[in-house]
Amino acid sequence: MNQPVLRVVTIDGPAGAGKSSVARSLAGRLGWRLLDTGAMYRAVTWAALRDHTDLTCDEALGTLAERVSVRLANGSVYLDGEDVTGRIRSVEVTRASRYLADNPRVRARLVRWQRDFADDHEVVAEGRDQGTVVFPHAFCKFFLTASLAARGERRFAEFQARGEAIDYETVLGDLERRDRHDEARAIAPMRPAADAIVVDSTGLSLDEVVNQIERSVRLRLDALMSPQPAVGR
Ligand code: DC
Repeated sequence: MNQPVLRVVTIDGPAGAGKSSVARSLAGRLGWRLLDTGAMYRAVTWAALRDHTDLTCDEALGTLAERVSVRLANGSVYLDGEDVTGRIRSVEVTRASRYLADNPRVRARLVRWQRDFADDHEVVAEGRDQGTVVFPHAFCKFFLTASLAARGERRFAEFQARGEAIDYETVLGDLERRDRHDEARAIAPMRPAADAIVVDSTGLSLDEVVNQIERSVRLRLDALMSPQPAVGR
């Protein structure tokens, strides 16, 4: 039996490719909700650091994820009702997030929240596994990438804007390690879905990338809404 088509756009890809900015801008243009799944992993990571949870203990991380609540609303991230939007972007949270991202119970919990978020809503979902695992029946999928140098420069500028003391080489090293780790993960590894459109944002402005993606989305939306020709009559 055919699966129903989900009115979800997925944007997966490595860190620093511009997924967050592209997804936010696209969601604004379409008037759809933005599902920033990295922010969810970051919020649970922040809770683990706050509670001094042993990051190497799978059991403890799983229990933590089932105990806390994460909510996305109006561009902010709430952990147990507390706004943690600014705090989850630190270098410390970024580095520790891999322990949570590798944990099957944490992933299962977050996947449930992510699907609930898309219930009854049109959504632009960004992350690593949105097109492959969370929304395999999404009607339009993208894998957004860029050269390591371009991604490093973006991430470095973000940390600088936040006043975090970190040098460019360290940012680059962290990115490379995180890419390798995300691609090699035993569950939900980062990879393009078979039916994803791969977009390389190297050398493109934010608007150029969003224009390109929006064009594809609108074409598919038009195709979805146009009446299908009758077959075999
Ligand atoms: O995209 P980001 O840098 O905000 O992601 C934060 C962490 O969460 C990073 O370690 C990758 C992980 N992540 C994931 O495993 N699956 C997702 N769907 C989104 C993020």
